[in-house]
Amino acid sequence: MRFEIYLVSPPIMALRKPLDAILVVGASGALGKGLCQALISRKSDFKRIAFFNDTSRPETEDKRTLFATFRDGGMEQVSGTYTDAAAFTGFDCVLMPLGNHAIKYQPTIIDTGIKAGVRHFYTSEWGADLTAGSNWTQRYYRDKVLTREHLAKRGRDADTLDLGWTYINLGRLTEWSIIKHFGIDNANHTASIFGTPEGRQSLLSTADAIAYTIETLRHPFSVAENGHRRTYRFHGGSPTWKEIFDDLEAITGHKYSVTYLDVETAVEKETRAKELGDVDLELEASHQLIQGRGGTLLPEPFDNDLFPNIHPEPVHSVFEKSFKDASLRKFLGLS
Ligand SMILES: NC(=O)c1ccc[n+]([C@@H]2O[C@H](COP(=O)([O-])OP(=O)(O)OC[C@H]3O[C@@H](n4cnc5c(N)ncnc54)[C@H](OP(=O)(O)O)[C@@H]3O)[C@@H](O)[C@H]2O)c1
Repeated sequence: MRFEIYLVSPPIMALRKPLDAILVVGASGALGKGLCQALISRKSDFKRIAFFNDTSRPETEDKRTLFATFRDGGMEQVSGTYTDAAAFTGFDCVLMPLGNHAIKYQPTIIDTGIKAGVRHFYTSEWGADLTAGSNWTQRYYRDKVLTREHLAKRGRDADTLDLGWTYINLGRLTEWSIIKHFGIDNANHTASIFGTPEGRQSLLSTADAIAYTIETLRHPFSVAENGHRRTYRFHGGSPTWKEIFDDLEAITGHKYSVTYLDVETAVEKETRAKELGDVDLELEASHQLIQGRGGTLLPEPFDNDLFPNIHPEPVHSVFEKSFKDASLRKFLGLS
């Protein structure tokens, strides 16, 4: 785990404490849902656990049902908008597992949270190390970078030197690595990959990412020497594309026909998508560029040893389970 060093040091306080009152913003998302379920299963470890119901967002039957299960599990529902300070009051930490189109709202959420007294934020990371290679300047990470810059700026303000944050870095979530977004068609056993068979990426299962995240909430820190500004790197495995397709072939019993594309052609795809105003396509191209250039390979050192009770599931085993799980099969483009 790394702490960030700033020229202006916060006041020295030796007291080390974990985070006790947690609010999840983006609770209905793929990761948010799992984080809420994990918090419910560890409810007795926290003073308060809650999820945010953004009243400006469309209500769906699925969301209503999901939120009811969270409430039944003992989570509080907090309703409001991202500018509603009253809704953020009484929490010491806000987790923001927000989707691609919502990441840009994080500076607003942070400012509202600060106004309400929140002093710790988990921003929408759970991905590559933004400081590695050329990640910092990639389109896909633009709003994640702006969020980090915003936190750093607010963290220099004289009245919020106690402002802290946690960034969880893992590379790619294993289940996501083999979907259409990254060029893999599991129904027809074909793939178009920007990169080479030897290209590596770091993979961690969603369940392990969630388990590590919950442990970090309970990992005590002090604001002395910027202990409240934390980056954790959790590593599951770093297979090559060849190893990934060997796994997929062994699991499905089908040979995959894989075309490897020159990474730099994703730049043209990104430009074209931008001209078309297709944000999702632009993000897809940017993602492929990042990955093809090795941006999702997690640099060492890793922080797994801080939590030896967690044993990351091997990549092959996560793939195998995903192909057997009905909802994940759909996610993988299968019926
Ligand atoms: N490294 C990887 O491979 C990987 C893979 C997946 C995710 N992640 C990371 O995990 C985090 C969460 O991703 P996710 O896939 O779980 O997100 P998601 O399911 O796409 O979205 C999460 C939540 O964001 C809110 N949201 C979505 N679009 C919005 C919009 N236009 N305006 C306002 N709110 C919106 C929604 O909450 P409400 O409807 O309740 O408001 C949604 O449930 C991100 O940081 C992402 O980068 C990483």
